[in-house]
Amino acid sequence: MTELERKHDRTPVPKEWAYAPAPESRDVVSLDDRYGHFVGGTWLEPSETYTTISPASEEPLAEVGQATPEEVEAAVAAARDAFENGWSGISAAERAKYLFRIARILQERSREFAVLESLNGGKPIKESRDVDLPLAAAHFFYYAGWADKLEYAFPNRRPRPVGVAGQIIPWNFPLLMLSWKIAPALAAGNTVVLKPAETTPLSALLFADVLRQAELPPGVVNIVTGDGRTGAALVKSEGVDKIAFTGSTDVGKAIQRELAGTGKKLTLELGGKAANIIFDDAALDQAVEGIVNGIYFNQGHVCCAGSRLLVQESIYEPVIEKLKRRLTTLRVGDPLDKNTDVGAINSKQQLEKIRELVESGEQEGAEIYQPPCRLPEKGYWFAPTVFTNVAQSYRIAQEEIFGPVLSVLTFRTPEEAVEKANNTPYGLSAGVWTEKGSRILWMAAHLRAGVVWANTFNRFDPSSPFGGYKESGFGREGGRHGLEPYLQFASAEVKG
Ligand code: NAI
Ligand code: MG
Repeated sequence: MTELERKHDRTPVPKEWAYAPAPESRDVVSLDDRYGHFVGGTWLEPSETYTTISPASEEPLAEVGQATPEEVEAAVAAARDAFENGWSGISAAERAKYLFRIARILQERSREFAVLESLNGGKPIKESRDVDLPLAAAHFFYYAGWADKLEYAFPNRRPRPVGVAGQIIPWNFPLLMLSWKIAPALAAGNTVVLKPAETTPLSALLFADVLRQAELPPGVVNIVTGDGRTGAALVKSEGVDKIAFTGSTDVGKAIQRELAGTGKKLTLELGGKAANIIFDDAALDQAVEGIVNGIYFNQGHVCCAGSRLLVQESIYEPVIEKLKRRLTTLRVGDPLDKNTDVGAINSKQQLEKIRELVESGEQEGAEIYQPPCRLPEKGYWFAPTVFTNVAQSYRIAQEEIFGPVLSVLTFRTPEEAVEKANNTPYGLSAGVWTEKGSRILWMAAHLRAGVVWANTFNRFDPSSPFGGYKESGFGREGGRHGLEPYLQFASAEVKG
């Protein structure tokens, strides 16, 4: 307890208003020393391994496999076998039953998964508990509902599964991205080989235990761990009918080149450089909360992050003043502390990328602001950062930083806001803050972005499709749209 200061005629007040530590217990998670690959319902002993760590402390957590092309082939063969000898033949209502089970087990074990996600990935427990886990379960519930209604989702098109789906996911929302990929694939009747990102394999490996509990037939979902080499082997594998990838634009382009002419289906969800646009009639305090949520949520490791703030010139000063004041209240530190707002940067490699881009911003002439905060000595950390005086041409206004770094630009008219917002190779998301409904509709029609949020930001729902334009990729995940990449249709066959 903080010591109370007594002044004779006044109510006692604490001397200091610092938050006491409120750590979430790690005991709910029990880790093995070593994990293999989950293939055909059993654990395959890996031929090569590496150590996965906690980015907040650099503490080693477990040894995991670095799957070789042969091990990837074993997983693909198990998926093919499960597809042909069972899964694609069972009734759709039966498939739905497994998905509902998985959803319920994720809910029941959500605390365990949330702690593991924060431990291995560095994100605040507040977010893994209140965002990642509820949304992951919601995805399985949502697609469980579609499994036996595909004929109604795509009337007169005779939807059929594609076969074996190879799925490669990133480290920013490990379990949630797993759900975005696996739930629609299974609902549509496919089997899966999933590769989690090399820095965050543990929640996918724990998910194998959820599959065991749900009694999912062996081989329907296979999980191989490893870095980009494992991902590349999965892309190359001839037994795979469809690739779904979320990650960097460079790797997405390489995959597209690799698959050109093979007839394999492909969806890509790549980077972004979203504009968060504040008009002078917006509710400013709410907008400031939306700016903070837009870029500091998940340390800015968000493809749809509002990383470019566009403020109408007449309100520039009050917005920046309110924003800077709000930043001083953000608590940066231990991801497992329930009070933490901003956790650890996911990896050393990502921290170096953020540092390099921030240095370029300073060199090109932008003005940097960081609130006073003490960063832990071990682990990978970066203070919440705002850049003002940013020109459109600066790298920090053009390139995806994927960290807690905001670049501020200004505009005068809605037309100028649209022009600046669209002036990027990406087109994943955007935010608009204004009191006028007509302006929201006008902006939404002119912004080249897959998602446009109005007077809010970073809102997700399994029923709402998500995906990009231009270099942000193609294909949609979520909603009825999210089923389509996992299906083939009779009409497509007629065309040849
Ligand atoms: P990355 O694209 O290399 O990694 C994403 C996934 O792809 C991982 O599972 C990785 O193992 C796999 N992968 C890597 N090389 C591959 C290859 N040649 N073939 C098949 N799979 C491969 O992304 P990285 O290096 O982790 O991050 C670099 C930048 O990418 C970030 O700074 C950020 O700007 C962006 N990024 C965007 C994400 C998004 O959600 N759109 C997610 C992660 C990163
Ligand atoms: Mg990479």
